[in-house]
Amino acid sequence: GLSRRAVLGGAGAGLAVGAAGGAWGGRASAHAPADGVTLGAARVPFHAARQGGIVEPAQARVEWAAFDLLASTGRDGLAALLRGWSAAAARMAAGEPAAEGENQIALDAGPSSLTVTFGFGATLFDKAGLADRRPAALVELPAFPGDALDPARSGGDLWVQIGADDSLVAVHALRVLMRLATGLAAPRWLMSGFARTPGATPHPMTGRNLMGQVDGTNNPRPRDPDFDATVFAAGGDWMAGGSYAVLRRIRMLLEGWDTLPLDKQERIIGRRKSDGAPLSGGPDAVERTPVDLAATDGDGVLRIAPDAHVRVAAAASNGGAAMLRRGFSFHDGLLPDGSPDAGLLFAAYQADPARGFVPVQQRLSRGDGLSRYLRHEASALFAVPPGAPAGGYVGQQLLE
Ligand code: HEM
Repeated sequence: GLSRRAVLGGAGAGLAVGAAGGAWGGRASAHAPADGVTLGAARVPFHAARQGGIVEPAQARVEWAAFDLLASTGRDGLAALLRGWSAAAARMAAGEPAAEGENQIALDAGPSSLTVTFGFGATLFDKAGLADRRPAALVELPAFPGDALDPARSGGDLWVQIGADDSLVAVHALRVLMRLATGLAAPRWLMSGFARTPGATPHPMTGRNLMGQVDGTNNPRPRDPDFDATVFAAGGDWMAGGSYAVLRRIRMLLEGWDTLPLDKQERIIGRRKSDGAPLSGGPDAVERTPVDLAATDGDGVLRIAPDAHVRVAAAASNGGAAMLRRGFSFHDGLLPDGSPDAGLLFAAYQADPARGFVPVQQRLSRGDGLSRYLRHEASALFAVPPGAPAGGYVGQQLLE
């Protein structure tokens, strides 16, 4: 079969699914597939040192599902669940049927860059008799000013993230994994999101969110010397090579936002809306022009406002705190007042949330111009273990 990388390398075929992109948002296009090669053929191997769905570019579709372990499941049942889930995920990622006699939602499509990422919530460890193995970094997130969290859509013992460039492939994987959980874990909440489809733009570029901004520019990049230390847990325990995922369902107050004049929208972020260039860089700046937080105009006024999102969120403003953002948009119909239930399924991966999301959100929730247009409605933190060893399953390092 064709691996995603083989498709990327694709002998000048002009097909580059997610090439040169990365979770920081760069997307490549698949506008000219070579004969017999489709977007669906791209695949991400399931068995690897690290789980997929963290550093790969955000796929066109995501499903997030949280589960709670049933009281009768215990440690052995958890191991059985993770074994079954991993085996099915590995088969689907390779483009094979998940099981004999399964329903055929994804029939005809390739794996479409399917990734399945598993995470463990803090509440899992007591229930599975593993309290002594709960990582110190897996704490409860503090409450932040302005939080409007729905407990029914927050937390969870287990988390599954399914990403694919085809919606039927993603939803098929969700159905398969939900069925495998029957009798062992109960679904707690589900969320669906989307991002730009590869090939929708004529050249690779960072995606946009539902406020219209280029989003993902200043993410850590795998070639940065401190990338691994920022994103992946070190140390000799079972979490080595894993990461911690902070999830927030952030509704955007789009009706208010959409009526703001363009210059106000740009001041609130600190970047131009058309191309994402920083406001500190003058008219010739491009998206990748480094942000200069000290730059002033002729009157000595800061070009990037004191409450601009990129200033308040920057590592330089937060004692070096950094994270890899890999969010998706959601648009789930209307609220009772007629406004759109839409926004960002925010996900941030880091080696330790206390040195990533937490200090940054503490500052954002107090002094970020963007927060007036946002509502954080659900929240979760999961330990994302390292990848499944060859022939093994995700979580094996914890359970064996
Ligand atoms: C940067 C949008 C929530 C952390 C940005 C940028 C945009 C943006 C447009 C500039 C481009 C880029 O570098 O990616 C949003 C929207 C949000 C949101 C629409 C909510 C719906 C958050 C949250 C956090 C966060 C909750 C973390 C707690 C960051 C960081 C940067 C950033 C660290 C890079 C800053 C820099 O160093 O330049 N965001 N953001 N954002 N955002 Fe957000």
